Amino acid sequence: MTELLKEIPVNDPLNVKEQKAIIDQAIADNKERLGAVMLVLNEVQGKIGHVSPTMQIYIARKLNLPLGQVHGVVTFYSFFKTRPRGKYTIKFCLGTACYVAGVGQLIEKAKQTLNIDLGETTPDGQITLEECRCVGACSQAPVVVVNDEVQGRMRPNKFPQVVKKVQSLP
Ligand code: FES
Repeated sequence: MTELLKEIPVNDPLNVKEQKAIIDQAIADNKERLGAVMLVLNEVQGKIGHVSPTMQIYIARKLNLPLGQVHGVVTFYSFFKTRPRGKYTIKFCLGTACYVAGVGQLIEKAKQTLNIDLGETTPDGQITLEECRCVGACSQAPVVVVNDEVQGRMRPNKFPQVVKKVQSLP
């Protein structure tokens, strides 16, 4: 554990007293329960917003589990994020209808507009770009989900307006 502590990135939640306390509490509360790994990860994801690789190592060691088991759960469920997310999220539907309707061009426009890749967050911590599966609005393809709001028939030239609107949110 000592070697691990030396390698923790400065801004990792394990280096932030209050956030480390949340992780330790989740472990203490669930360690003896059936499905402890899922319970701990759920709580950490819900309260901190992501489970970084270092946090996965820490949780695995504290639960006496192989890292592969913790990592396997984190990568299997899209609910778990391994990097911090922005205050706002713009998701692009990668379902078939949206793919055919040109979501790829939208994604390119988004990357250009914000100068980040899918899965990344703007340096000011405001906007994260993500992909998602079909959200059931195929008749309005291509679809983006801004925070939880589905916006259909999106076109690349409308994207800068979407960004402006998100940036003006409180
Ligand atoms: S494929 Fe995009 S909403 Fe269904």
